Amino acid sequence: MLLKSEFHPTFCPVMTVRTICCIGAGYVGGPTMAVIADRCPQIQVTLVDLNAERIAAWNDADLGRLPVYEPGLADVVARCRGRNLHFTTEVDGAIAAADMVFLSVNTPTKRKGLGAGQASDLRWIEASARQVAAQARGHTIVVEKSTLPVRTAETIQAILSAAQQGTEGDTKSFSVLSNPEFLAEGTAISDLENPDRVLIGGDDPGSIDALAEIYSNWVNPERILRTNLWSSELSKLTANAFLAQRISSINAIGALCEATGADVKEVARAIGSDSRLGSKFLAAGPGFGGSCFRKDILNLVYLCRHYGLEPAAQYWEQVVELNSWQQQRIARLVVSRLFGTVSGKRLAVLGFAFKADTNDTRESPAISICRDLLEEGAHLAIHDPKVGVDQITSDLGQGASASGLGLADEGSWQPAASVLEAVEGADAVIVLTEWGQYAQLDWPAIAARMRRPAWLFDVRAVTDAEAARVAGLRVWLVGEG
Ligand code: UDX
Ligand code: UDX
Repeated sequence: MLLKSEFHPTFCPVMTVRTICCIGAGYVGGPTMAVIADRCPQIQVTLVDLNAERIAAWNDADLGRLPVYEPGLADVVARCRGRNLHFTTEVDGAIAAADMVFLSVNTPTKRKGLGAGQASDLRWIEASARQVAAQARGHTIVVEKSTLPVRTAETIQAILSAAQQGTEGDTKSFSVLSNPEFLAEGTAISDLENPDRVLIGGDDPGSIDALAEIYSNWVNPERILRTNLWSSELSKLTANAFLAQRISSINAIGALCEATGADVKEVARAIGSDSRLGSKFLAAGPGFGGSCFRKDILNLVYLCRHYGLEPAAQYWEQVVELNSWQQQRIARLVVSRLFGTVSGKRLAVLGFAFKADTNDTRESPAISICRDLLEEGAHLAIHDPKVGVDQITSDLGQGASASGLGLADEGSWQPAASVLEAVEGADAVIVLTEWGQYAQLDWPAIAARMRRPAWLFDVRAVTDAEAARVAGLRVWLVGEG
């Protein structure tokens, strides 16, 4: 059993944190806590999750079976697990022992009720706050790690202060901080180890210092930014909205390039050389995916509308609409190039994750593109180095077909263990995720297995398109006219 540090709020303005509990062992909580444990051996870090299967996977002796795939993560877990990094479903005990509790539970878009389709569903945040209120002992710093609508800290504070008042002699006390996570999946470990900035929002300087002290074990103090709570919450939504907006902008220009004969890569290089614009986040593709962008922008739209700022709401809404349009456009384009029908045709889909170097498929553009092609009656052979059959089945809402081909006019899919297996007898190769291995494909070997005329639709512009052309394929590249 871990013991909580001695803390007397009146005598000790800065608390040195010895024990951390993080509620939510997902893509954000898992890697973030692993890096904190790695960089702060003096702190005991416990990750808790309601999902027993997920916790078991975090504790699996085989590090290849961790629930989150991230380059470098297994090494960090191997160094710390059992030393000062623990995974458990025993939430109450971990909260009671913690000086600091991070909330890193999911906050999906509401499916029904007020704000359905746009507002965030805060039920898990609220439930976690109530559990912290009930189980915490002494003084506890509660840190919002989940991306939340602006002013959520107020809700958390209200729940915690009700608990505080309910205790005899005020033995419980809380302060709430916002500390949004800016890591991107696929590069989570390096983003956490070398963050551009760490943002801490709050109104209690002692608590802010306590969290800043943790990060200062490996982050240059100049990169630790302090703001008020609301600025911190809004900064996270704004960062994601700006990033997503760049992708919708480049995809809009990419479509225009295709129509006019320009090349979006050349345009991106030309505009990216302007130091005011910068060169990152200018890759045209199938549209953005991932658990954050769509949800956070819709949340921003909801907030703008709530405060009566209709033109601002419509402005941000358009970023999401353009993203959906891009995905539909790609599916339609494949059908139209394949003589207007894909019914009964085999299409090799390369990549299902929402980006390279992750096993995450949340909001992956591959889902809607594959669903549209299945609707058209295509037979998809799907290859992804990290995404498993069960995940694809759940995302597509239909199981893999047992035999190679399903009924002639009904869409079907099957997993492919290798690219060469996927392309066997296929009319087209469709690249949807920029996995490194797709840049080095053996095009003569692929072409030899495909039915002619054979197509390459490279929706990430990552393949050796010239080699594919030389091998006899017809090539379509996103953003190339
Ligand atoms: C999530 C949100 O999507 C993101 O907005 C936020 O910034 C951080 O949390 P992520 O870690 O990617 O990001 O989500 P997910 O992988 O779904 O992990 C959340 C975990 O919380 C799940 O493992 C879930 O089982 C757990 N959880 C949820 C609890 O332990 N308790 C709850 O009450 C609810
Ligand atoms: C994002 C933010 O980058 C991160 O700061 C935040 O904490 C969580 O949300 P993530 O969704 O993990 O991270 O990945 P990111 O690299 O931002 O990519 C998001 C989507 O945009 C992916 O589907 C990616 O393929 C796409 N993308 C990205 C492009 O289409 N073009 C680009 O140039 C960059």
